[in-house]
Order: sequence, then structure tokens, then C-alpha cells
Amino acid sequence: MDYQAVLSEVWDAVRPVLGQGRVATYIPALAAVDPHRFGMALATVEGDVYGVGDWREPFSIQSISKVFTLALALSRDGDALWRRVGKEPSGNPFNSLVQLEYEQGIPRNPFINAGALVITDRLQRLTGDARGTLRDFLRAESGNPLVDFDPVIAASEAEHGHRNSALAHFMASYGNMESAVPEVLEHYFWQCSLAMSCADLARACGFLARHGQRADGARLLTRSQAKQVNAVMLTCGTYDAAGEFAYRVGLPGKSGVGGGIIAVIPNRCALCVWSPGLDARGNSVAGVEALDRFTTLTGLSIF
Ligand code: DON
Repeated sequence: MDYQAVLSEVWDAVRPVLGQGRVATYIPALAAVDPHRFGMALATVEGDVYGVGDWREPFSIQSISKVFTLALALSRDGDALWRRVGKEPSGNPFNSLVQLEYEQGIPRNPFINAGALVITDRLQRLTGDARGTLRDFLRAESGNPLVDFDPVIAASEAEHGHRNSALAHFMASYGNMESAVPEVLEHYFWQCSLAMSCADLARACGFLARHGQRADGARLLTRSQAKQVNAVMLTCGTYDAAGEFAYRVGLPGKSGVGGGIIAVIPNRCALCVWSPGLDARGNSVAGVEALDRFTTLTGLSIF
């Protein structure tokens, strides 16, 4: 298949929606990004990379980091992890507090903020340096040694992080935090602040298209664990829009409020699209549209 031609066609098709949606403003440092930006990259399991638009431009990966922290914690902790976090769609916004009380401090899934805080807490205990472990992993998998945190974004998140702080303290009250809450929050904010391009991210999630095998051939996840992560992405990766995303795109995907979305086609390739204008549920408007067009044009989906 001529992936470069397909990506160009997708880019043309999404032009009318570029600039639609609203850039995230609850993290003030994200509000400065131009909503008309658009990039898309595809990395094959063999290691070839194709791209269009701003595909080499770093952006804030935000909640896309949650896929990688889950994979890193699962690879070390195995099924024990699932005692502290569920694997059901929440049907609620990513930063919602309501379900946590009904469900005694056990978050619905690892991709809502509460669940990701539990995963960061676990990764911190398992490695002693959750954020450093994540950065080193992403540098290795993307093949880009320059992947790094954005300290301005991290500081902005910490300053405006009352909701995440509330979630973490609430879970601590149920005994579902091993480390001190400020330590977990700090690692979480830094993880979300990582800046990567579409090319970096498409390469970095290649292990999910290779059934758990890393870029250098070493194994991160068992085949079964890679299936688990992909399944949770499909059902929970775009929060209360996961049903519509599965319906339109038909791929495991994970969004972030920086406007990025990654998606996986097992055995074949990984994709990343970026455009900062978000819909009401925190997913990139042009990003979802581009992935919808991609799977419709190519017929490539998991279904
Ligand atoms: O914690 C937060 O709210 C942000 N750092 C990440 C949220 C996010 O990306 C949700 N995804 N659409």
C-alpha cells in the first residue's frame, strides 16, 4: 500500500475541519498552541515511517503517556496491577471524581486520570523513578534521544492541578496510594509534559503493533499483555467518546489534551495524528476525523 499517498489524501480531506474545536485551556501553557496545526505519521512494524504536515513538530503528549506507563507497569507487575485499577469504560470525563466514591477508590480504568495516578504510583514503587523510566523508554522506542519533558507545561499543570490532587488524595483515603501524594503528582505531571512529534509517537507505540516486542527485538509485554493494552485502548482510550471512536475509526486509540491521538493496527503499523482543537470530550476534532478517513480509505481496521 502507498502509505504516503494515503496520508496526503487524508490531510487534504481534513483541511475543512482544521481550526475547529477548542484548545485545552485548563492547563494554561497549552492554550498558546495554534489550533490550525496538523500532522500525521505512520510507522510500519518493519520500521519505515511516513508523514504529512507538522509530523516532525513536538507537542505535549499529555494522556498518551498513560499507554506507556501502563505497559511499563504491567511488564513489571503483571496481573497484580489489576487489583488496584479496573478495565471497564468509565462513561465519564477523564478527570471526573464521582465514580471513585461509589467504587471505593478503585478507578474504572488506567486511562482516566485517577487510574493513571495509580499506575504512576505503582511504577514509582517498582522503579524508584517513574518519570525517568518513561522518558528513557520513549527515547529508546522512538529512536530520538532528544525526547524530553517540557518544564513550563509541567509547572503549569502542577499550579492548576487541584482536580488531580483531589483524585490522588481521595484514593489515598481508601488506601489506594503507596507513595506520598505530592510525589505521585509530580511524576504524573512530568510524564504528561513530555514533548514528542507524531513521528516519535508512531515509532514509540510500535511495540503494540508487534505484539509486545520492542524496537530492538527485546520483549516488553507478552503477546497476551499487548492484547490487553490494545483492548483497554479500544474501550477506554478516548474516555466517554470511546464508543464513537471505535464506531468511526475501528482501532485501539489513545488521545491527549495536547491534541495528539495514537492508534494501532496490530501486525502492520502504528499511527499518530496531532491537531490541537479539541471536542467537548477532550479529543482532537481533526485527529479523530483523520483516523476515520484513514481507516475508511484503506479498509484497515481491526474489524
Ligand atoms: O491530568 C490532566 O488533566 C492532563 N495532564 C492530561 C489529560 C488528558 O490528556 C486527557 N486526554 N484527553
